[in-house]
Amino acid sequence: MSKRTLITSALPYANGPIHIGHLAGVYIPSDVYARFSRKVGKDVVFICGSDEHGIPITMRAKKENTNPQNIVDKYHSLIKDTFDKLGISFDHYSRTTSKKHYAVSQDFFSTLYKKKSFIEEISEQYFDEKAGEFLADRYIVGTCPNCGNPNAYGDQCESCGTTLSPSELMEPRSMLSGNTPVLKSTKNWYLPLNEYEDFLQDWIIKGHEKNWKSNVYGQVKSWLTEGLKPRAMTRDLDWGIPVPLEKAKGKVLYVWFDAPIGYISFTQEWAEKTGKNWKDYWKDPSTELVHFIGKDNIVFHCIIFPVMLKAHGDYILPGNVPAFEFLNLENEKISTSRNWAVWAHEYLEDFPGKQDVLRYVLLSSSPETKDNNFTWKDFQTKNNSELVGIYGNFINRVTVLLHKYYGGKVPKGTAEASEFLEISKTTRGIRKSLEKYEFRNALSTLMDLARFGNLYLQNRKPWKTFSRDKEKTEQTLFIAAQIAAGLAHLSEPFMPFSSEKLLNMFRLAPIDWEKLESGSPLILTGHLIREPSLLFSKIEDNEIEKQIQKLLLTKTKNDLQNCGVKPMKELIDFEDFSKIDLRTVTILSAEKVENTDKLLKMQINTGVGVRTVVSGIAEGFSPESLVGKQVVALLNLTPRKIRGIESQGMLLLTTKSDGKFSFVVPEDRNVENGTEIG
Ligand code: MF3
Ligand code: ZN
Repeated sequence: MSKRTLITSALPYANGPIHIGHLAGVYIPSDVYARFSRKVGKDVVFICGSDEHGIPITMRAKKENTNPQNIVDKYHSLIKDTFDKLGISFDHYSRTTSKKHYAVSQDFFSTLYKKKSFIEEISEQYFDEKAGEFLADRYIVGTCPNCGNPNAYGDQCESCGTTLSPSELMEPRSMLSGNTPVLKSTKNWYLPLNEYEDFLQDWIIKGHEKNWKSNVYGQVKSWLTEGLKPRAMTRDLDWGIPVPLEKAKGKVLYVWFDAPIGYISFTQEWAEKTGKNWKDYWKDPSTELVHFIGKDNIVFHCIIFPVMLKAHGDYILPGNVPAFEFLNLENEKISTSRNWAVWAHEYLEDFPGKQDVLRYVLLSSSPETKDNNFTWKDFQTKNNSELVGIYGNFINRVTVLLHKYYGGKVPKGTAEASEFLEISKTTRGIRKSLEKYEFRNALSTLMDLARFGNLYLQNRKPWKTFSRDKEKTEQTLFIAAQIAAGLAHLSEPFMPFSSEKLLNMFRLAPIDWEKLESGSPLILTGHLIREPSLLFSKIEDNEIEKQIQKLLLTKTKNDLQNCGVKPMKELIDFEDFSKIDLRTVTILSAEKVENTDKLLKMQINTGVGVRTVVSGIAEGFSPESLVGKQVVALLNLTPRKIRGIESQGMLLLTTKSDGKFSFVVPEDRNVENGTEIG
């Protein structure tokens, strides 16, 4: 029987779109692993879904002025759609608001409750009397005892980075009402993690030192060395799964209790859909369970969830938890709240058909062992010199030559050549790296095969040998075709879209990796291939410039948000700008418009004729003071009637925050009227 493998990716919070950090640090590597595992013949199920409970959701709802349900509906569909379009091959993508998930989570809780796995504890929590709610740590702000920042959160001060608890904050206030919260006692159900230290020691420290990544193993070890404390699995919140206990009315399950149970409930949903038995995947110890996560999730997947599983009994434990570090964007931390991110759904719009380029670039800078960085310039280079210059170039040379010399048919040749061994060597190399979750190595091994192919053609020069050495040329293109076919198969986990295109171009059906390693030819003499078409195309400077501009705009907006100036408007094109007709004009006369306080009617000399304009500036200037002033006017604004007078232009003014205004005037006093500005 093939090895049963259950692969999960951390459930993304449905509180915002997916960005490149999520993709590089969880979803693309896990997809590569799932696709690879299928190729090597494992019995794979790949599970994920949206995490729709918890404070991140209610916070977002507050920010967007709506309710949590609307937030999760909106982002769940956006996220699901993004994953689909990027080829993330989940067997099932669900959500933690699904009916099944509620039932499975409540059942899980009830089982632990019946087994007396929880301890009940009464604690004092901050309560907002005006809002009538207990306050999550994030909803309490106050002065940081460490650095004096007046806006530190109840769980952390973002100024100095200190981890806090709400009781440490000085002068705490509620973010819901602004009031000072009061302490109120409340009962919650705790999982005594400390009682599981021996179990965790045995399971992780003794069992997984060798096969877990050092960043994961190291973190878990240090948690265990520090000692564990009981952790509350219920919360006083109104958004979440109700605690299934009569005496816990109004309380919900802690989001980190219900979310990982999602892996189980979603597997059940999938099994129902496909007629499989979910228990094979969760209860049979021969199943390999692998959790792909970001580093901030380590404690939940390596300590809390395993303790839950252990307490429940009869579930398997994760065999591995490959956790990734973080990806930065242009050397700065990605931040949803500051909009410092490349959003996947926007990328898909800006670069249609280039899913594999993003997959490739993010894999090659995947933050495997330490934080890594994404820059647009690097993205362009990797596309233009690696995907187009090396990979695409090799494929193109092979297909063009096959058509030019052999009418698109693979010529005679023998696979008994040392070069042919490169393919099985590459296959084994990729397999070895992926088994160790080394995605960057795996990808560069794949690219090495394309490099090898180019070098092979370069050395054998079929364009030279064609006229004098028929046999050698045939052999060259026979081998080159094998390498191209090898790439078509081997690239599938990494770049599924171009792999499909390539297989189609070569008219090949997908095959298992065992076959690739076996050393038999991948494409036979006489096999007809289709006309060459380009796999990748160059990305031009202006496309990259546009993305960089977008980030600069974000930066400017963020900077401006910190002073009182209005945020910048959307970008316009040069064409939009050049439509504007701005000129120097002189005010010839000015008079108040009858029965108004603010309006002045003025005659202006525009150099291209005298016009009337009406402007709301009477409170700032006396009519006499304006006569003879040279100012700047917008001339091609569609005329509009103001108090029955047709205004045929607009004078440019700056308005200060105190409401005072002044004219924009040309610095040079000797400009002719009608001089264009731009
Ligand atoms: N939503 C969490 C995050 O984004 C991850 C949840 S993973 C699960 O950090 F195990 F809880 F499902
Ligand atoms: Zn601080």
